[in-house]
Amino acid sequence: MRRRVALITGITGQDGFYLARHLLSEGYQVHGLRRRTSFNGSDRLQNLSDTLNEGGSLTLHHGDMTDQASLIRVLQESKPDEIYNLAAQSHVQVSFEKPAYTTAVNALGVVHLLEAVRLLGLAEQTRLYQASTSEMYGVAESSPQSETTPFRPRSPYAAAKVFAHHIMVNYREAYGFHASNGICFNHEGPERGETFVSRKITLAAAARRLGDKSVLMLGNLSASRDWGHAADFVVGMQQMLQQPHGDDYVLATGVARSVRQFAEAAFRVTGIDLAWEGEGLDERGVDRKSGAVIIAVDPRHFRPSEVQALIGDASKAKEAFGWEPRISFEEMVREMVESDTARMRKEP
Ligand code: NAP
Ligand code: GDD
Repeated sequence: MRRRVALITGITGQDGFYLARHLLSEGYQVHGLRRRTSFNGSDRLQNLSDTLNEGGSLTLHHGDMTDQASLIRVLQESKPDEIYNLAAQSHVQVSFEKPAYTTAVNALGVVHLLEAVRLLGLAEQTRLYQASTSEMYGVAESSPQSETTPFRPRSPYAAAKVFAHHIMVNYREAYGFHASNGICFNHEGPERGETFVSRKITLAAAARRLGDKSVLMLGNLSASRDWGHAADFVVGMQQMLQQPHGDDYVLATGVARSVRQFAEAAFRVTGIDLAWEGEGLDERGVDRKSGAVIIAVDPRHFRPSEVQALIGDASKAKEAFGWEPRISFEEMVREMVESDTARMRKEP
């Protein structure tokens, strides 16, 4: 039987890593779009080599979501059955500093991709997945959020993603594209970028375990998110594209925790029991046993407009294709802290 061919944009990112690994293990031929960078050694791509040694097939292409000609060339070279558009300027706070660039990649980039598929006549044979996000709900009008909850974006990142979401729906309706939006709530893991709050915390917990006494500076400790594991989420992405028609699905765990609770779980792995003292800018996370300050607040990490709380309802995905997260929050946090500890031991 012919192997299915997938193109992943954003293959060098966290989800790109987990999705490529999953598709390779399912026997796909995987193509990845990557940007040219001055430093060639992507750790995540390096980590994929184990799967490749087991007989997978991975081809990388240079390209950029802001350069439509490069997308056309990659589509011609790869002729994919399935496209997973994961590429994005994905950091919410950075999007306030680079709003036009974020829009160019996260919104216009999706138009470049959809039009390339249409103009090359690939719409009949190619199914598309778009990385939509729970950030689109912003100050959500109800909880938990589902596919029918209105979007109230609170950042340039989220506003661009709302556009991308709607343009996917439009190509589905106007041209019959098999186009799906996965509205994913936060998902993490050892491959998470180091400036997202989860990984920032697990890196700090690992460093302290190995003797580092620096205080971890965080922003809004009360923000709460529905945190799952990226390895579970990429399974749902692939399942969406196996459905008879394109559609929109929420992927979430249905449980929300605060940044404080994330920190408590991470430091607990290293034997530190965190207690919270003070309020507002003076709040501190301290080691209950020694009294040492572990966490403090730095207002530079506050966002001009914040999304205070998100929690998702993934029952549509569960009903349609049986998707459910398997890895618990505690298992995920432990895996991240242990992985960061092991990496630091190897490369001090
Ligand atoms: P990530 O680690 O930041 O990865 C983003 C990827 O996009 C990287 O491979 C990056 O390449 C690539 N990229 C950025 N700008 C590009 C451009 N102009 N042209 C081509 N590639 C570009 O993000 P992630 O956590 O894996 O998330 C994957 C997708 O899901 C993103 O679209 C994100 O917005 C969305 N999402 C993520 C979550 C989550 O919790 N992780 C939840 C909902 C939605 P470089 O390596 O060269 O930077
Ligand atoms: N990054 C960061 N750094 N966030 C902090 C910090 C800090 O020092 N301190 C508190 N936070 C708060 C943020 O204000 C936010 O409310 C929450 O922690 C989570 O922040 P991030 O980890 O940066 O993730 P995000 O929720 O803004 O965005 C991620 O999830 C979205 C899905 O809801 C990204 O992966 C987006 O690409 C994704 O769409």
